[in-house]
Amino acid sequence: MNDPSALTADAVEAIGKSQTSAELERIEVEYLGRKSGHVSKLLEGIGRLSADERAVLGKAVNEAKRMIEGALAARRSQLEATRLADLAETEAIDVTFPGRPLERGQIHVLTQVRRQIETVLESLGYQVELGPEVETEWFNFEALNIAAGHPAREMWDSFYFGPGLLLRAHTSPVQIHAMQRIKEPPIYIITPGRCYRRDAPEATRLPYFSQVEGLAVDKGLTVGDMKGTLLFMIQSLYGRERKVRVRPSFFPFTEPSFEFDVSCGICGGMGCKSCRHKGWLEVGGCGMVHPQVLRNGGIDPSQWNGYAWGFGIERMAMLKHDVDDMRLFYESDLRFLEQF
Ligand code: DAH
Repeated sequence: MNDPSALTADAVEAIGKSQTSAELERIEVEYLGRKSGHVSKLLEGIGRLSADERAVLGKAVNEAKRMIEGALAARRSQLEATRLADLAETEAIDVTFPGRPLERGQIHVLTQVRRQIETVLESLGYQVELGPEVETEWFNFEALNIAAGHPAREMWDSFYFGPGLLLRAHTSPVQIHAMQRIKEPPIYIITPGRCYRRDAPEATRLPYFSQVEGLAVDKGLTVGDMKGTLLFMIQSLYGRERKVRVRPSFFPFTEPSFEFDVSCGICGGMGCKSCRHKGWLEVGGCGMVHPQVLRNGGIDPSQWNGYAWGFGIERMAMLKHDVDDMRLFYESDLRFLEQF
């Protein structure tokens, strides 16, 4: 073939029909290949032409080359676009794409505080004892000397499953389980765990919360031993400058019974807004274990005596971190939780 425009038309048609880049490459070599491409061949015998004819042919050949190159480039980008579009459909997951960074979680603040309490008391020789959250009325009340119909039951308004079975209202029933299991004093245990009461959620109370109970049964224990233990625990958690005091109170399972308070960390006991000008913050209840409770746990009160305490973990966490609303602990708002 020696007509540049006919050759160009052929090439452009072939290029338009091509379906792959390999095919395009073959067409490129066929037409534009340096030695044996059709376009180069047009120039064979140009030496025999006159100068004018040579110029006309040269120009036509250059034009043919330019047009074929243009058609190749256009078709090449068309094919590439189709290839990418197909790829997007057939391989929607691009395994070479870098993954999203993993966010690192952290221990919930209530778990942190619970573990700190456990660590401090374990250092004194206490062991962690767990009990069931679904309890019989006997363990939750009777065994703790809270008789049916006794007005003290109103302190624990509970969730019942039916007669005799309820969600425990405090961790005190684990005292009985522990005495029955261990049998032979000395007993030094703490019992962290969830409790349930029929209270509407408020800033200072919730229908579900956590307590840590402590129980010591040994020979000749005194209120001084109990207070010293609580003082050690409070100072380990909150600092050496904190003080502890006990005030007479009433619980059916202890005699004598006390509330125990911690000196306010903000005013140091002088009285300020955060302790309502009392200088002290209420933490929990405690006392010497009632002989009937020891008996209900299978322990002879003429041989042994004991002390016990119970307090809320949420309250301890509020005191530690100056949180003024208990509900925040359970709302799973990361802006709150990430602070601890
Ligand atoms: N169980 C009590 C409550 O939930 C707290 C308590 C008070 C526990 C005195 C004790 C104790 O072990 O000795 O209100």
